[in-house]
Amino acid sequence: MGRHFKSVFSDEGIDRRDAGYYSSPDFVARFFCDEMRCINPGGNTVFDPCVGKEELLEPFICEGLRAEGFDCYSYLSDYRSLFRQTDFLEFFREHTRQNKPALDFDFIVANPPYNCHETNYIRDNKPWLRKLFAETGVANMYSMFISALIDLAKPGAVIGLLSFDSFLTAGAHARLRAKILRQCRIHHLVLCPTDLFRNQGADVRTCLMILEKNRSEPVETVYVSNRPRDVDAFREILIRKQFKRVPPGDTVLSGSRDASEFVIDCPEDVLKLFQFARLDSHAQVKTGISTGNDGMYLRSELAPGHSVPFYKNPGSRKFYCSPDAYLPADFQQIARGVPNFIVRNRDLLFRSGIICSSMGVKFGACYLPAGGTFGVNPGVFCDDASLWWLLAYLNSSLVHYLVRGVLLRTNMITSGYVARIPVVPFDEEAKQLLAKFARRAYDLEQKGCSSSPLQVDIDRLVFEKSGLSLSSRQTIDNFCKDIVRLA
Ligand SMILES: C[S@@+](CC[C@H](N)C(=O)[O-])C[C@H]1O[C@@H](n2cnc3c(N)ncnc32)[C@H](O)[C@@H]1O
Repeated sequence: MGRHFKSVFSDEGIDRRDAGYYSSPDFVARFFCDEMRCINPGGNTVFDPCVGKEELLEPFICEGLRAEGFDCYSYLSDYRSLFRQTDFLEFFREHTRQNKPALDFDFIVANPPYNCHETNYIRDNKPWLRKLFAETGVANMYSMFISALIDLAKPGAVIGLLSFDSFLTAGAHARLRAKILRQCRIHHLVLCPTDLFRNQGADVRTCLMILEKNRSEPVETVYVSNRPRDVDAFREILIRKQFKRVPPGDTVLSGSRDASEFVIDCPEDVLKLFQFARLDSHAQVKTGISTGNDGMYLRSELAPGHSVPFYKNPGSRKFYCSPDAYLPADFQQIARGVPNFIVRNRDLLFRSGIICSSMGVKFGACYLPAGGTFGVNPGVFCDDASLWWLLAYLNSSLVHYLVRGVLLRTNMITSGYVARIPVVPFDEEAKQLLAKFARRAYDLEQKGCSSSPLQVDIDRLVFEKSGLSLSSRQTIDNFCKDIVRLA
């Protein structure tokens, strides 16, 4: 059964969270219209599957194109496009069932819904959604919209998307990325600022993408732009077309270990580092314990019966962190009797190692002393000789950039991603120096002092040994200084 949507909304009546309504700014609509019409100057029809109040269609309509729009809600009493109130995913299901030909539109624009009713919608409609999106999955509304639009577009159609950007790197969207790469040429890949929808109450990371379906000749250049600091800078980029031009190969991580993550404006010499051996050829990178009910099993203080130190997400802490909680001494016995109390990788229990951040924009690594345990955050286990230089390396600005600027733009980092961090091949002398810096940084942090001066030493050495150009170092420094806005 499909979900029933209310029929009409007034301006005041729009529940953004329910409808996933975030209005596209007019300069974004203008950007799509100009760039897409440049790609196909002869095009004269345009479609928006979640048209809202026709924000994205507006410039096309003004230029005389024939426009059609769908939306599950009706927001206007008078549409300038040919409007149909319908659930686009249900329309796609019917279209597919009847094996109809591709939609005859030269242009498709969409700002698909997100932050909305998707959890309920996906749960209520799962059986047919699963069948319909067997290839790319049913993780989000926006990803299903993108997948459906690629299927519905005719060869040569140009597709402009303003979308949540987690699909660029998240593991759950690897098959969507593969589909985009297989069926479309990418013309533009532009990250939006985090404040793009702040005046509408949303702090979301989004991107713009312009694709062309089934283009026969290859695209020489992809226009990319990294995340700007704010919406004013973004407007300037779009209006003045301040994009970088990069070869298509530089927009995708395509090594055998990679999952076609989209890379935006990463310096060429930094991308080359991905040819080095990854962290899991130096260490085991694994996840730890999930209790299933932290409130029940964890105590914040050492207490009788609760004696096993437990380390959670270090978040922004580096080098040193004290235990976040204590597990019951008999936790292994409890786990045997409680199905959702899961102890993974038992062979690593109580070993010394490194724990890494799992949530949040910042990435840090802390020493895990012997006798401790850790949660679902990534744990790194290696021989004693490697532990300290790896701790220094994992806390370097370079790694911070590799993780947050390239490998993974969403907030949740799993051991699978940490395992894939490329490791610069350091000589013995450099390893010893890095290890010395890490031990000193650990001591300082343990005493409650800042380890920043050692961070500078570590960065200098890591940059030198990685052979990065001065401009790449500058890019990385700038990124790390303002990571919350730029990641
Ligand atoms: C992010 S807003 C975009 C609105 C407008 N197109 C724009 O760009 O400003 C997403 C739109 O998707 C609509 N929507 C949500 N679920 C839908 C569905 N299943 N089918 C069609 N439209 C849907 C919402 O009502 C909302 O208008």
